[in-house]
Amino acid sequence: MMRLFEARFPGIPADDYVLGAFMLNDDAREHYEEIMSFPPFTVDIDRGRELWNTPLHDGKTYAQCLPNGGRMIAGNYPAYDPVAKRIVTFEMEINRCRVESGDAPYRYDDARTMGTLTAYARTLSDGMRMNIRVDGPEALAHYEAGRALYYRRIGQMNFSCANCHVDNAGKIMRMETISPAIGQATHFPVFRGGDKLYTLQARYTRCMKQVRAQPFPMGSETFNDLEYFHSYLSNGLPLKASVYRR
Ligand code: HEC
Repeated sequence: MMRLFEARFPGIPADDYVLGAFMLNDDAREHYEEIMSFPPFTVDIDRGRELWNTPLHDGKTYAQCLPNGGRMIAGNYPAYDPVAKRIVTFEMEINRCRVESGDAPYRYDDARTMGTLTAYARTLSDGMRMNIRVDGPEALAHYEAGRALYYRRIGQMNFSCANCHVDNAGKIMRMETISPAIGQATHFPVFRGGDKLYTLQARYTRCMKQVRAQPFPMGSETFNDLEYFHSYLSNGLPLKASVYRR
């Protein structure tokens, strides 16, 4: 896939793909960098830091519960858990900590809790390179399930994810430049318009609604498999969470 994009967008360094559609337009990129030098959503990230630092029910912190103190780990997720025999997202790891400590899990689709918490927690992995591993036939089956969904035509408009983000990447749709699939999973959650928090799976939901498909529930196995495949596409690219998007 990268070779296809390199041919279509010659001269753009691989690391620039994390900028999404902004990589294709100098003015948009400048505007992005201006906003990122003084982001209007700093308060949300601060609120996420407070959640992160608030001890759990048994007094433990997320940093004590997660591998490596929660730093430089987000790029390892989603991962296949061979014991539970399922895909585990970063959000599920956070909920594992909560449940082990006696707290109720957060809903993936609750932007106020899980969204805000990850808007901070994921920044602790900024600079890490995406490192999704697909080892063994069971992991591969989940990867293939995600891949199949990515290429499946859905909704009344009969579009697959790949129809837009591979075939039509770089084209303009409803005043928006369509970003290439590679790089898309590196920077979530995003703040659309500078204030509206979107997790990665909330963005999947929005894209599915745009083609008039019934979205899968956020946090469902189907979306987790999709996130697994979709994140793998960004392997090797640097993470940077909580960025501005249009
Ligand atoms: C009809 C075209 C279309 C389809 C189909 C579509 N998208 Fe999108 N998608 C867009 C547009 C337009 C945007 C906003 C501009 C951009 O950043 O690409 C977008 C944005 C995104 C983003 C955010 C990119 C960023 O850097 O902020 C992700 C992630 C994404 N789509 C994933 C998906 C997935 C996964 C699917 C399949 C379930 C999908 N899209 C289906 C058009 C589409």
